[in-house]
Amino acid sequence: MTRSDKVDTAPGETSGASTDTPRHVAIIMDGNGRWAARRGLPRAAGHKAGAEAVRKTLRAAVEAGIDTLTLYAFSSENWRRSDEEVSDLKGLMRYYLEREIDELAREGVKLEFIGDPSAFGPDLWNRLQAAAARTEENDRLRLVVALNYGSRAEVAAAAQRLAEEVKAGTRDPASIDEAALGEAMQSAHLPALDLIIRTSGEQRLSNFLLWQAAYAELLFVDTLWPDFDGAALDDALEVFRGRQRRFGGR
Ligand code: IPE
Ligand code: IPE
Ligand code: MG
Repeated sequence: MTRSDKVDTAPGETSGASTDTPRHVAIIMDGNGRWAARRGLPRAAGHKAGAEAVRKTLRAAVEAGIDTLTLYAFSSENWRRSDEEVSDLKGLMRYYLEREIDELAREGVKLEFIGDPSAFGPDLWNRLQAAAARTEENDRLRLVVALNYGSRAEVAAAAQRLAEEVKAGTRDPASIDEAALGEAMQSAHLPALDLIIRTSGEQRLSNFLLWQAAYAELLFVDTLWPDFDGAALDDALEVFRGRQRRFGGR
């Protein structure tokens, strides 16, 4: 039996040693505040520079032929930041969306969200939904922005969904297995996660895609997010290609 047909993966999961370009890459874009502090600038300047890094990285992801790029832009714990910083981040999202939506549409990017962005208020939420609707037919790259996202909340919501089906009598509790829980999650339609990159030297997941990370490759780089760019993404993809994925096989 060859390596690839022996590997037992969850439905939809990439099987075998993946030395190719990853299909689904997720990035924890960290280090904006430190980037700004090193320059004696306010944190908002770091977030603004971070938005530029998103532009460059996205372009490189399209070039590299990545299918899905998921970006952690605001965690469900980021509400612990000052009102001023949250408001700056919202303003920046709105600005970025207005400025970039034409190009995203032109480049064939399909914009989606995970988390609960409705918490940002109706103005931003309506704009986000309109941008998603406008790019719905695109299929060159799927850009998933995690906004007010928490992985534990995503898993808990999936459990609740299944429990409701059991209560309604439409589901047998014995049918609740890994696949059923995975399918009940908000991100169920996304391809299996291949690679998580975190910038800024921190080595943790901070409640990001915990379930999906089960067999993802993890890459922690010291670069602060505003300094990340297409070349940095290409370097990360090269590291990924050098990894040997086993999925528990040998
Ligand atoms: C990441 O940069 C952006 C968000 C979490 C919104 P940070 O703002 O966390 O930057 P550091 O970690 O303080 O440097
Ligand atoms: C994770 O970064 C969230 C995002 C990048 C949006 P944080 O800066 O919030 O994570 P911690 O607090 O250092 O774990
Ligand atoms: Mg941080």
